[in-house]
Amino acid sequence: MVDTTEQKRYWDAPGERRSPWHPAVQAFARPKIEIAIAGMELPGDGMPTMLEVGAGNGYFSVVLAETFDLTVLDFSQHMLDINPVEAPKVCGDAQALALPDKSFDYVFCGNLLHHLPDPVQACREMRRVARRQVALVEPNATNPLMFAFSGLKKEEWGALKFTARHVRGLAERAGLRTRMFVTQGSIVPNATPPALVPWLQRIDFRQPLGFYHIGVFDV
Ligand SMILES: C[S@@+](CC[C@H](N)C(=O)[O-])C[C@H]1O[C@@H](n2cnc3c(N)ncnc32)[C@H](O)[C@@H]1O
Repeated sequence: MVDTTEQKRYWDAPGERRSPWHPAVQAFARPKIEIAIAGMELPGDGMPTMLEVGAGNGYFSVVLAETFDLTVLDFSQHMLDINPVEAPKVCGDAQALALPDKSFDYVFCGNLLHHLPDPVQACREMRRVARRQVALVEPNATNPLMFAFSGLKKEEWGALKFTARHVRGLAERAGLRTRMFVTQGSIVPNATPPALVPWLQRIDFRQPLGFYHIGVFDV
């Protein structure tokens, strides 16, 4: 596991990342948000509030902002600066959120837990600040390609143990109760060539060897 200082150095200068509007990024993010929303208990009226933890440069943020009154949080000011979403931006550590208890209806966190020294503590914090549900998206170590990608970079090594059982276990150890958990996806946002997107979308369904886990948990 890469320690927090090293992670911060990496995310302050992460190299080339695609725009949230890139077709592969949209094809990656949109179905996952749709699945997460289907697993939540959304009120019929108004825009519920949501905190997105580890929002990065906005792959999920731009889609979430269509449905939620969104606040984004990341510990890299650089990532917050390049996140194009029109939303309040908070610079802070997912493992020690400087936010009051139950301050958001929902919390969403995508592709962060496998980078953290203490993912259970981050789940505890997300549970503390949420009034209703916490949604998590994480890579699936059971997929051979995802496992291979995760082995290539030191910063991704944490993902090597992210099986469905591991991800649910992290959430449940933090007191979160599983409401919905699926594995899905054939598209990775930063590496899928745009020409392959329409083909991969045909197999972008739920299946145990999908690239990502999507979980919705009651607090
Ligand atoms: C792999 S990126 C994911 C970004 C976005 N959620 C996505 O899926 O495209 C991980 C993000 O988490 C942030 N991050 C890493 N450790 C963090 C921590 N302890 N607290 C808050 N954010 C953190 C990084 O700065 C980076 O923006």
